[in-house]
Amino acid sequence: MTTTRPSIPFFPPGLFTADRRLLLDLLRQLGRAPEQRFILGEHTRRLEQRLRDRYGAADVVACASGTSALTLVLTALGVRPGDEVVVPALGCAPLAACVVNLGAVPVFADVDPHTLVADPEQAERRITSRTAAVMPAHLFSVMADMPRFAGLARRRGVRLVEDSAVAQGAVLAGRPAGLWGEAGVYSFVQVKSFGMPGEGGVVITRDAQLGHRVRMLRNHGQDGTRRFVHHLVGHNSRFDEIQAAFQCHRLAGLDARLRRRSSIAEYYTARLAPLADRGVITPPPGREGRCHYVYTLLVEDRDRLAGHLRRHGIGSHVYYPHPLPRQPAFAPYTTPGERWPHAERAARHMLSLPLHPHLTDCQAEYITDTVRAFAGG
Ligand SMILES: Cc1ncc(COP(=O)(O)O)c(C=O)c1O
Repeated sequence: MTTTRPSIPFFPPGLFTADRRLLLDLLRQLGRAPEQRFILGEHTRRLEQRLRDRYGAADVVACASGTSALTLVLTALGVRPGDEVVVPALGCAPLAACVVNLGAVPVFADVDPHTLVADPEQAERRITSRTAAVMPAHLFSVMADMPRFAGLARRRGVRLVEDSAVAQGAVLAGRPAGLWGEAGVYSFVQVKSFGMPGEGGVVITRDAQLGHRVRMLRNHGQDGTRRFVHHLVGHNSRFDEIQAAFQCHRLAGLDARLRRRSSIAEYYTARLAPLADRGVITPPPGREGRCHYVYTLLVEDRDRLAGHLRRHGIGSHVYYPHPLPRQPAFAPYTTPGERWPHAERAARHMLSLPLHPHLTDCQAEYITDTVRAFAGG
């Protein structure tokens, strides 16, 4: 007798299956529209306006990607070659790459051992007379301690940028992720919480003047009133109209998708937290300052759990297998002998479980049963 093995990939393959008709309709609609406007048109303006209203921001500027959004913000803040920007030692490459690509120097600060996000005390220790900005990131579904980062930035006279690329929807002390610093960003690439079938992102800010600079920088320094007058040396980071129309439609369902993610994460924690004394540590619980983008465990024998899940048809993922300063690309920006013990330990033990709104209750139960069986729980 054969039994069918369930298959739960880490990334859902049919992320936009339910929206396929919408996407094709929009393609036809915009493809046949008399204006033939495919970038920075009325749909982009509408999306920006909706996001401004939704988050109470002074400005939201749609652009080519989350990475580009970070670059636009740092450029608009005046980060220059030779400046230092303090970033967390654990995170994704864009955090450091966007600094390096401006000719500035990423300075890596260790993370909090439990939340795994930027630790304000560690970041403050890395501030020097060359520090232009501090850029914490909200990762692993947890917002960094922004009240302390905001205090630190004020006290030390440095700019504060939030890499909130994967934290759209998180709110801390009543303030949305992205609006604690001078500017933040959201990424819309497919797998993100407000992902879409393509590349894109936004800059979000409570500073209208900064928003205006970002707006110019995304389109070669033009101010939107006159073409071919370049006030700033800018970038091509324009936003696609079909994607903007798609995002305007999908915005209505975002809260429900975020709630579904949160309730799955809460279910995982309820079932897996009792495994703490068996080498499986769950992420910090609760909804305050959370956007449940990934569900990341710290596991004593991470590779063995990943193998066990794979044999049971469950995909898992390691975000991130190496701290940023240990990456060949960024090691040249570090000093020999420097250590980031919490980031290094986390990189050896972290393992993320599937977490997306399309997971069924049955699948969530099967995933937690499988982890519990591994830990003998
Ligand atoms: C924390 C973080 N920052 C920045 C980015 C860059 O966003 P994008 O892929 O849209 O360029 C990502 C996406 O991978 C991310 O996870």
